[in-house]
Amino acid sequence: MRRIEFHDRAKEKQEIGDILGAEPSLITFVCGPINSGKTTLITHLIEELPADYVVFYINLRTKLLSSYGDFIESLFEMEIETGGAIKKGKETLAELVSGVTKVAGIPITREFIDYVFKDNKPKNAFSYMLKLFEEVKKSGKQPVLVLDELQKIGDVKLNGPLIYELFNFFIDLTKELHLCHVFAATSDSLFIEQVYSQAMLEGRCRYLLVDDFDRETTMNFLDKYNFSDAEKEAAWDFCGGKPVCLVELVNSGDRGKKACEMFNVTSGRIETELKVVNELGAKIKIGDNICDIHYPNLIEILRKFVERDEISINEIDEISKRYLVKENILFVDPLSKMIKPQSQLNLSAIREVMRDA
Ligand SMILES: Nc1ncnc2c1ncn2[C@@H]1O[C@H](COP(=O)(O)OP(=O)(O)OP(=O)(O)O)[C@@H](O)[C@H]1O
Ligand SMILES: [Mg+2]
Repeated sequence: MRRIEFHDRAKEKQEIGDILGAEPSLITFVCGPINSGKTTLITHLIEELPADYVVFYINLRTKLLSSYGDFIESLFEMEIETGGAIKKGKETLAELVSGVTKVAGIPITREFIDYVFKDNKPKNAFSYMLKLFEEVKKSGKQPVLVLDELQKIGDVKLNGPLIYELFNFFIDLTKELHLCHVFAATSDSLFIEQVYSQAMLEGRCRYLLVDDFDRETTMNFLDKYNFSDAEKEAAWDFCGGKPVCLVELVNSGDRGKKACEMFNVTSGRIETELKVVNELGAKIKIGDNICDIHYPNLIEILRKFVERDEISINEIDEISKRYLVKENILFVDPLSKMIKPQSQLNLSAIREVMRDA
């Protein structure tokens, strides 16, 4: 079986290395278009970290988060016995953290379960986590908390959004106590924009963009798998530097044909979505408002990409922007405040669809 090895990311790795080498002081939001390699980068870095870092990695992707209780449960790693009871394991926090280096979920002792889950108060869960991180620190190690797919908590309410409670906790861990590094990853650029505009986070967080590979990185990647010059050009024209697409091409028998198929699937999807809006109409919920999507506005915006690779955030109305981002056609880069297609594949597909629109 062909194994695709981790490729490059030297710049991003250096940036994260610098963050981890200093005292925790800011929350780090890791953002980037869908399938750009955020999770792969994070998990790769976790594997490479020396044993004096204790990483708590939680991926919310597969978790069903319909309530506050679901969220808290998703954070903790409880060993369940076959009968459904919680396993009696280590009893003290010191026992719990000894020997722990990389864990998927926050370990919890039997003694603390009631405390964490009683009253449905995030304060309890967070103060337990604080104690745990302090214990890690006492053992001479540096705790690191990573929450992947953070946007999933955006809709969870708890006398107001859970997100404020969580951000306050993150600020405590970093800027206030310098206790634990906090990384939060998401590909939802609308969520990141929302985060960006939070007054409470101003000066308390940084953004780290994990974008698709640039042209040079893509070519180096393809060289490893013996792509011919023509195959490399076709790959770049159709897929750009989207790692997931490049891996698909590497694994394909007929690379040129595969690139073409991927392009057809994406342009077909965009074409159908536009047709649906044109023929049936579509709506989007923004706050408490249900807003109509205007087909002519979508066309006017997408036409701008025929000549350009990206447009400014001011060139697009808010309703169309949210719709096109939600449908994973466009991506808002919070660092440059520019809007671009989710991938080179989407850019080429938009151009194709606009030729006939
Ligand atoms: N640096 C890399 N080297 C080799 N392959 C990579 C690299 N980064 C990503 N990939 C490939 O791309 C796929 C998608 O990457 P990944 O799931 O990390 O993206 P993501 O940005 O986390 O996606 P999402 O937006 O869905 O969260 C991976 O399964 C892997 O095959
Ligand atoms: Mg991911």
